[in-house]
Amino acid sequence: MKIITTESNIQGSVEAFKIFKHEIASGAKVLGLATGSTPVTLYQKWTASSLDTSNLISINLDEYVGLTPDNDQSYHYFMQKHLFDKKPFKKTYLPDGIKAINDPKGAAADYNKIIAENPIDVQLLGIGQNGHIAFNEPGTPFDSITHEVKLTTNTIKANSRFFNNIDDVPKSAICMGIANIMSAKKIILMAFGTSKAKAIKATIMGPVTEDVPASILQRHPNVTVIVDHAAASELTK
Ligand code: GLP
Repeated sequence: MKIITTESNIQGSVEAFKIFKHEIASGAKVLGLATGSTPVTLYQKWTASSLDTSNLISINLDEYVGLTPDNDQSYHYFMQKHLFDKKPFKKTYLPDGIKAINDPKGAAADYNKIIAENPIDVQLLGIGQNGHIAFNEPGTPFDSITHEVKLTTNTIKANSRFFNNIDDVPKSAICMGIANIMSAKKIILMAFGTSKAKAIKATIMGPVTEDVPASILQRHPNVTVIVDHAAASELTK
């Protein structure tokens, strides 16, 4: 694991963007992308750049069940707004949160097929305060593939800041599994702020355990973790 500690989210986003540019220049064609507040500055750098994305394919980690792509809380909408509207890709994929209302298994199987047909070159990740990656909560099997996830009360609470009302937060999502994420050739995990310090410590220094989903990254051959000093504050040398 390579760890890059930066002064701020902005610096960290600059570092992450450099890695993406390098990987794309070296032939990366399929990017695994993430939502949440963590990658927003990275996407700003990206849209402000001259980087050509028209030959790239993106595959996002997850989508809420029941939100249409034009719902401003859906991850489809988030990606359009923060990246794809300004930087069109050749093809962009997110799980089908509408098909998943009545057929979550079908929506998950469709997405696994997409990932199998488009092996991910570089996967971007944020991390939850409990060490979750995408919506893979503690206890998710390391061999999981795309599946429906019932969101925990803590994740619903954490994500309610983006919604008008906590009751509006969907109760489930379709999400890439840990095995899908680990199949990416390269992984970049970003975390900023003290609220992520415990999760970062457990991810990097703790045992590899399904209780901390991100700890599996210790077993991946090509991971870069980008943190600011606050998120790195519980790491010891
Ligand atoms: C959600 C998302 C994750 C994200 C995490 C942290 O649960 N599904 O992909 O990494 O929240 O979000 P944030 O970056 O806003 O802290």
